[in-house]
Amino acid sequence: MAISMNTAICDLFGIEYPIILAPMAGIPDMAPLVSAVSRAGGLGSLGAAYLPPEEIRRVVREIRQTTDAPFAVNLFAGVSPDDLNRFDEVNDALNGMRDSLGVPHPDRGGIVTPDRFDEQFGVLLEEQVPILSLTFGLLAERHMAQAVQAGMKVIATATTVEEAIQAEAAGCHAVVAQGSEAGGHRGTFDTSGRRMGANIGTMALVPQIADAVHIPVITAGGIMDGRGLAASLALGAAGVQMGTRFLTSAESGAHPAYKQALLGSTEESTVLTDAFSGRPARGIENEFIRKWETAGVDPLPFPSQNTLTREIRNAAAKRSDAGNMALWAGQGTRMLTDGQSAEEIVRQVAEEARRVWS
Ligand SMILES: Cc1cc2nc3c(=O)[nH]c(=O)nc-3n(C[C@H](O)[C@H](O)[C@H](O)COP(=O)(O)O)c2cc1C
Repeated sequence: MAISMNTAICDLFGIEYPIILAPMAGIPDMAPLVSAVSRAGGLGSLGAAYLPPEEIRRVVREIRQTTDAPFAVNLFAGVSPDDLNRFDEVNDALNGMRDSLGVPHPDRGGIVTPDRFDEQFGVLLEEQVPILSLTFGLLAERHMAQAVQAGMKVIATATTVEEAIQAEAAGCHAVVAQGSEAGGHRGTFDTSGRRMGANIGTMALVPQIADAVHIPVITAGGIMDGRGLAASLALGAAGVQMGTRFLTSAESGAHPAYKQALLGSTEESTVLTDAFSGRPARGIENEFIRKWETAGVDPLPFPSQNTLTREIRNAAAKRSDAGNMALWAGQGTRMLTDGQSAEEIVRQVAEEARRVWS
């Protein structure tokens, strides 16, 4: 049986292949990769959550200089203000790690995470970004109304059927079903009752979400090649969102030590941890995670833990010390390719999926 690659998300987003480059906040210099995936007929996404508003504007313009094709920008929804109630306990546990990297000890007053969501969102409206994707929750009603008014398409991330139903009810145009295999942060809206978020496997999550909503479903989590795309379509999804596969592509701005760790990893290498940011995320287990677990301290809630560990991660990157960097990765890393162009990856994934279905 043949299957059409021209799915509902191709029409919705104006793309040729139902393949989305996952937004990846924290990966430097994303414009070339976003642009390459969009030029190849997929949908590039810029992970903009950690970028100041004017930097988002600059990168959006940089993308537009190299492609007229549609692309998405991703923000974190529903982030709470800093909570430094347990600052001393957590800071003490991190100071030993700072000492080994020559990072000064911060004081409580130095840990401030600015809330820039309104301004970031404002830049997306001003720059007429065509597609907004979200993780950690949904837009406030007033923002959703503004997005719809501007003709923006909105994609939410769901880790449970209930979250997908909420996304559809809020007016989202599509939903990413993020299985537990996924690299990076769990998109779970509310993690207060379950420290590691909701972790349903992709294979079980996608058909249950596809049965529960009418908007197109996009599979994320462990999709690395055309077999994954073909399987996703069979499960009722209208496409895939792939992050890890593109981290070792030619255009990826990921740190060389991170790429090396990815290429040397296996399906057993990753763990779920909240050590780096206070929110659960999947990454390659390393020295930082092991030391944090040994300390036996609960992290501060997101985003405060993320702000508190930032200088450690930055110092580690400067020294190419993969032991103290956040090595976000999904469970499919044996399927990575080294230095392949993003265009070739998009075309190969589409071609392989067609072959599976022919
Ligand atoms: C390095 C990295 C950073 C990520 N950052 C974001 C982000 O900023 N926003 C988001 O919605 N998802 C983010 N994700 C999750 C992806 O959207 C997606 O769910 C995941 O990459 C899918 O699993 P895979 O890595 O196995 O392909 C990130 C993933 C990785 C690997």
